[in-house]
Amino acid sequence: MRMRKKKNSDSRLNSCERVLYRHEGAPMCDPAAAMGMAGSPVYLEIGAGKGRFAVQTAARHPDCAYFAMERVTDCVVLCAELAVGGEYGECKNLRFMIENADNLLHIFGRGTVDRIYLNFSDPWSKKGYAKRRLTHRRYLALYMNLLRDGGELRFKTDNAALFEFSLEEIGAMGLECEVVTRDLHSSEWNDGNIMTEYEESFSSRGIPINMLRLKKPDGFLPELAPEFLSKNYRG
Ligand SMILES: C[S@@+](CC[C@H](N)C(=O)[O-])C[C@H]1O[C@@H](n2cnc3c(N)ncnc32)[C@H](O)[C@@H]1O
Repeated sequence: MRMRKKKNSDSRLNSCERVLYRHEGAPMCDPAAAMGMAGSPVYLEIGAGKGRFAVQTAARHPDCAYFAMERVTDCVVLCAELAVGGEYGECKNLRFMIENADNLLHIFGRGTVDRIYLNFSDPWSKKGYAKRRLTHRRYLALYMNLLRDGGELRFKTDNAALFEFSLEEIGAMGLECEVVTRDLHSSEWNDGNIMTEYEESFSSRGIPINMLRLKKPDGFLPELAPEFLSKNYRG
């Protein structure tokens, strides 16, 4: 997400410390414990943007520990200010992280996440950039290692080409989606749908929203790309 540089982003972040999570040390075996919710289900959003989906989804699932990851610091300033603003309650079960998805294995232990949300991920449309897409098979393998058996990946996008690419990547891994729709808002799956900022903008222009849900099969632990395992790799 392109964003004009925010003034005083450090001090603004400091005043929202209670909704931030800064990881240090070994990967977490029980991530919910970081919010005083040991043993609770863990939801993870990658690429939270301005954060509205995160605050609304965390408010709807108060018994789940919700981590929202975003690599752009200035976006996290907006996310965190939205969360502490009070409009969505106390957000006790929500933490934002300034992190890159490439570092996930250094933060979350394997098999510790119940649900992963990818919303309107960057399409990286140019030739030669497929590996950077967050639904490329190397990321799918990463998610499958992070998810518990029966855990779920949920993906929404306006971008039809990215959606078809994602379905192909899923198929290439021998996996099958539980749900696929190319027009979420007209589908039976729209009940209770929480719209992101991008989603609202695209759908107001009449662009249909694609959505898929994929369950992790029991014991499915595909091989990980070496760059995600390297200690020195901070993507
Ligand atoms: C197109 S925006 C969508 C924002 C939001 N999810 C929405 O739907 O309104 C994609 C967001 O993902 C973030 N992002 C992209 N790649 C990322 C990565 N590898 N790790 C963390 N965040 C990432 C970008 O910084 C950007 O804010």
